Order: sequence, then C-alpha cells, then structure tokens
Amino acid sequence: MKNSPVSVIIKYVYIAVLTVMFISGFGQMPIFKRYYIADIPGMAWTADFFITSDLHNFGAVILIILFAFVLVEYFLILRKSYRLTAAGYVRTLLLGLLIVSGLLLFVSNMRGVYFGQTTLIVLDLIHVTSTFALLTALLIFAIKKSGWIEIKSELD
Ligand code: HEM
Repeated sequence: MKNSPVSVIIKYVYIAVLTVMFISGFGQMPIFKRYYIADIPGMAWTADFFITSDLHNFGAVILIILFAFVLVEYFLILRKSYRLTAAGYVRTLLLGLLIVSGLLLFVSNMRGVYFGQTTLIVLDLIHVTSTFALLTALLIFAIKKSGWIEIKSELD
C-alpha cells in the first residue's frame, strides 16, 4: 500500500539500486578512467570492469524483483485507488526497456550464445538510449517533487 512501511522501504531500496545501476552501467562504457574519476583516492574500483559488471548484474537481480513486485502490486491492488500519471507510464516503460534489453545483453554475453552484430548493436542502443532517457525523466521528477522549480505540463 502507498505510504506503508513496506512501500517506504521499497522506495529507498529502489533509489539505492537505481544509483548502483547508473554508476555501474556508466562504468561499463567505460568513462570513469577517461575522465579521471578513477584517479580520485577510493574510486579506482569504478574503472575495474569485473567489479562494475558484477555490481550491475547483482543490482539487476534486485531491480527485477522490485519491478515485478511493484508492477503486480499496482495492477492487483493500487490501480483501483491510484492512477499512474503519463510521466509515470513513461518511466515504467523506460525501466521495462532497460530490463528487457539488459537481460538480452546478459544472455548474449554467455558462452556459446551469439545474436549477431546488428541485434547486439540495436540492443546496446536501446539500453543506452533508455538509460539517458530514464536519467532525464528521473531528474525532472526529482526537481518537480523538490518544488525548486514549478514545471507545468500537460502530462501530469
Ligand atoms: C536502471 C537500470 C539500468 C541502467 C541505468 C543500465 C545502464 C547501463 C549502461 C549505461 C551500460 C553501458 C552500455 C554500453 O557500454 O554501451 C549497461 C551495460 C549493460 N547492462 Fe545495464 N542498465 C540497467 C539495467 C540493466 C539490467 C536490468 C540488466 C539485466 C541483466 C542489465 C545488463 C547489462 C549488461 C549485460 C551490460 C553490458 C553489455 C555489454 O556486454 O557491453 N542492465 N547498462
């Protein structure tokens, strides 16, 4: 239920896991060595592919469990009393795209699996584009929630 202790825990776990996914995802690109972030004391791990890859996969498991839980909760219980805004649908869709493309990329990294170059490029582009779109959508959401700037939109 909305505002129940469980939903508050879910909210904070969700924020934490998304932060891990963004940082470990950017670590795969890889940009932390190039832009000297990894040279900051204590940040060398951000340039270690195996650490960021393991973090990304571990975060993915938690994210998928959370996403499935929230989706089922919404469609079975919350939908009767709460309406998802258009922006909420956009964020859900982007997260869904990230999960589906991420899972397919994960499978394609398994030994003996090869999807073909075009499919891999398309999957990677979907994953990266949704990453930046979700980041933008979440920043707009955070700014709106904080009340720093009043944004009026048709969407919600
Ligand atoms: C909020 C969620 C997520 C974000 C922001 C995110 C972000 C990213 C980014 C930025 C990359 C680097 C792409 C590149 O180098 O071109 C990446 C790679 C990857 N992501 Fe995600 N990701 C998310 C969720 C997932 C999920 C749920 C999975 C499922 C297992 C996943 C699996 C992967 C894999 C396997 C790669 C490496 C692809 C390769 O072989 O280069 N991601 N992710």
